[in-house]
Amino acid sequence: MEKRNVDWSRLGFGYQPTGKRFVTNYAGGAWDAGCLTGDSQVVISECAGVLQYAQTCFEGMKAYTTKDGRIVCFRPELNARRMAASCRRLCMPEYPEEKFLEAVKQTVLANEKWVPPYGCGASFYLRPVMFGTGAVLGVKPAETYQLRIFGSPVGPYFHGSAPALSLRVCPYDRAAPHGTGHVKAGLNYAMSLYPISEAHAQGFDENVYLDAATRTYLEETGGANLLFVKGNTLITPKSSTILPSITRQSLLEVARDYLGMETQERPIALEELGEFSECGLCGTAAVISPVGKITDKDKVYTFSGSTTLQELRSALLGIQMGEIPAPAGWIYPIV
Ligand code: PLP
Ligand code: COI
Repeated sequence: MEKRNVDWSRLGFGYQPTGKRFVTNYAGGAWDAGCLTGDSQVVISECAGVLQYAQTCFEGMKAYTTKDGRIVCFRPELNARRMAASCRRLCMPEYPEEKFLEAVKQTVLANEKWVPPYGCGASFYLRPVMFGTGAVLGVKPAETYQLRIFGSPVGPYFHGSAPALSLRVCPYDRAAPHGTGHVKAGLNYAMSLYPISEAHAQGFDENVYLDAATRTYLEETGGANLLFVKGNTLITPKSSTILPSITRQSLLEVARDYLGMETQERPIALEELGEFSECGLCGTAAVISPVGKITDKDKVYTFSGSTTLQELRSALLGIQMGEIPAPAGWIYPIV
């Protein structure tokens, strides 16, 4: 397969329309068969549920070229299940897991030329997104929906940032108790735009959100979960208001089974920050991005190294790229 003429190693994290995307529509209580289309435009009612009341959720996943030249996805059934959970919370129709996996496969296959080659540092990011297309004026769920799965070749999410990120403790909250923080609702990201713009203007790369109820525990950033290292232990926040990251869930297993580390998933108080030697962000887009410091008003917490997180990152990427044997069921073959 001849690849597109792209400078893969210089890619950042941005939208690059590719040849085909999968589109399916829901009406009258059922999804249609769906198809691949070259049309990247969406035409919907001016009164669509997504436009009036932000009825939309999405997923983020990647396809990788492995060392031996196959193309694979990483645990895509977990994205299918998380999207179904988002749909339930937002009164949207679930898309069946088997069909979701098949649609992902079709999308990647149709864009094979856009899947970055092995070893270039880039991957093919897939963005399943569902939105209410039907008109609603009163506040209620739409009656019709569209699911699209499109993809873009991407490089690092924090492209051009210093080797270690600088975060601030965010003065705004991300998710209320019993709200939508645990699902991938578009509204969670709309509300983060003002805080992230302010953080960037102040010279920070990202915001660390605190729990909205007490503002004493660490939650996550706008687009990734938090990881900490203390001795031989990997520690990550447990909270019902953060997005359950598939990367974090996988890393806890990798840390235990591949690196022989202890792991803890528990509430982490802001005041514990001084006790950790390493800090990082994890997610599909972020992979593992090391954090150098976190600023809380006039207090600055610094993290001296990133050796353990770099080992974890190598192990995760090694599994995803077929350099290291993966736990059973983690690798979903496309080609
Ligand atoms: N937290 C938030 C708010 C996110 O948007 C993401 C990205 O999907 C993550 C965490 C990481 O989740 P995952 O590892 O499943 O990509
Ligand atoms: C992902 O990691 O896939 C996400 O959805 C995060 C987003 C902020 C790019």
